[in-house]
Amino acid sequence: MTSSLLTVSYIGSSAMFILSLSGLSNQESARRGNLYGIIGMILAIVATTVAVGMSGFGLSEYGTLAIAVLPGIVIGAIVAARVAMTSMPELVAILHSFVGAAAVLVGIANYLAPAQPLTGVEAVIHEVEIFVGVFIGAITFSGSVVAFGKLRAWLPSKPLLLPARHWLNLGMLGASISLGSGFLSAEGYDGLTPLLIMTAIAIVLGVHLVMAIGGADMPVVISMLNSYSGWAAAAAGFMLSNDLLIITGALVGSSGAILSYIMCKAMNRSFISVILGGFGADSGAAPATATKIEGDVHQTTVESTAQTLRNAKNVIIVPGYGMAVAQAQHSVSEITKTLQGLGVNVRFGIHPVAGRMPGHMNVLLAEAKVPYDIVLEMDEINADFPETDAVLVIGANDTVNPSAIEDPHSAIAGMPVMEVWKSHKTVVMKRGMASGYAGIENPLFYKENTEMLFGDAKKNLDAILGHLR
Ligand code: TAP
Repeated sequence: MTSSLLTVSYIGSSAMFILSLSGLSNQESARRGNLYGIIGMILAIVATTVAVGMSGFGLSEYGTLAIAVLPGIVIGAIVAARVAMTSMPELVAILHSFVGAAAVLVGIANYLAPAQPLTGVEAVIHEVEIFVGVFIGAITFSGSVVAFGKLRAWLPSKPLLLPARHWLNLGMLGASISLGSGFLSAEGYDGLTPLLIMTAIAIVLGVHLVMAIGGADMPVVISMLNSYSGWAAAAAGFMLSNDLLIITGALVGSSGAILSYIMCKAMNRSFISVILGGFGADSGAAPATATKIEGDVHQTTVESTAQTLRNAKNVIIVPGYGMAVAQAQHSVSEITKTLQGLGVNVRFGIHPVAGRMPGHMNVLLAEAKVPYDIVLEMDEINADFPETDAVLVIGANDTVNPSAIEDPHSAIAGMPVMEVWKSHKTVVMKRGMASGYAGIENPLFYKENTEMLFGDAKKNLDAILGHLR
């Protein structure tokens, strides 16, 4: 393959990735976006594989490459095919950690065996690329592993707030910078020691930054790590002088940063504060001082809920993580059709962080063929609750918690939520009184106009459907 053909292939792949991102920004075009991404990646892998042949790759090198790449492809395909929708965010988190680890390994390998000998300013620039790439990669790696542990509930979702934690972070950053100057002034391979010490410090920093983030703020951390993994890939692209890796990394890095910013705005959190591990904010702090909840729980039945829905003119369904756990989306879709057949106006209200990943609820509802035009964002529907006869909350908890608005001491204080309690009647479907991801109590369950329908969401929805029919 000539170098101009390689350039054309890389430009083609980059265009595919851009089209992919634009397609993924909308539910109707998401499938197409995914397809563009797949084509772009296949083109990139084939072009790179052929191109290395030009730089002297022989049969034995290709054999080594195949041994490394093929098992990865097979394992990746099996894991992706088998993963449950509810475990998708964990998979994404652990995949981010692989990108971080790859950047660290590429950086160290590149330092020990540079592709071409560089001197003067070029050598310094290259060493800066290596140092920064390894630093970002190490933070991404360990931060993503901790995020994975938190999402899997292997680690507590409560924030770890060490005393003087910001000074600790600052100290680690300062130590890394001073190691950087040692690395740049080292002769021969003497820079390896400061590089490895900095890697260890950055790993600890990544752990500490993500451990300090509370449960409810995890969505922003995931998209932020997504962004970091993009910058780590871009840094690896600079080290390897691979334009496509630089472009792809920059696309992932910037789109992840924009997503983090949008999510911070949606959750009323400070972007800078979340990136710096909760700097200057008590968000996600221990809810020990939260106001005590008063009132009784009013339990209801499947029959009564079916009756409430049948008698309503306007119904809003608010799904949350529990709908994903119960895999209840198809039952929800059937109930929607049945109620519409009975003349009830049914709409859906989606909180930006409902579930465990951005767009989680939208994906499930789209899979169950719920029409897009009745699925509304929180901002589009929140003002309509006072005129709504009945709200069906399906496995949502933190995203419908009034203490975000009513209790300034709550761990989620200030986060906009679906104001379901303002409707005439709210039926909450969940299995028991367990708290949601943020680990805090929910006063909604004790309100006068709230009824609790306990049990698995799918089983209860199927039973309601039976009554409606
Ligand atoms: P959560 O607050 O997580 O609550 C889900 C509720 O579903 C639980 O209280 C649980 O109560 C119930 N549930 C579980 N399985 C069920 C089943 N089979 N049937 C019925 N109910 C079931 O959900 P949410 O309101 O969607 O809020 C999402 C939370 O996750 C937020 O705190 C958000 O910040 C965080 N988070 C979001 C993301 C993204 S990007 N969306 C990423 C990471 C974290 P029972 O056990 O009593 O049934």
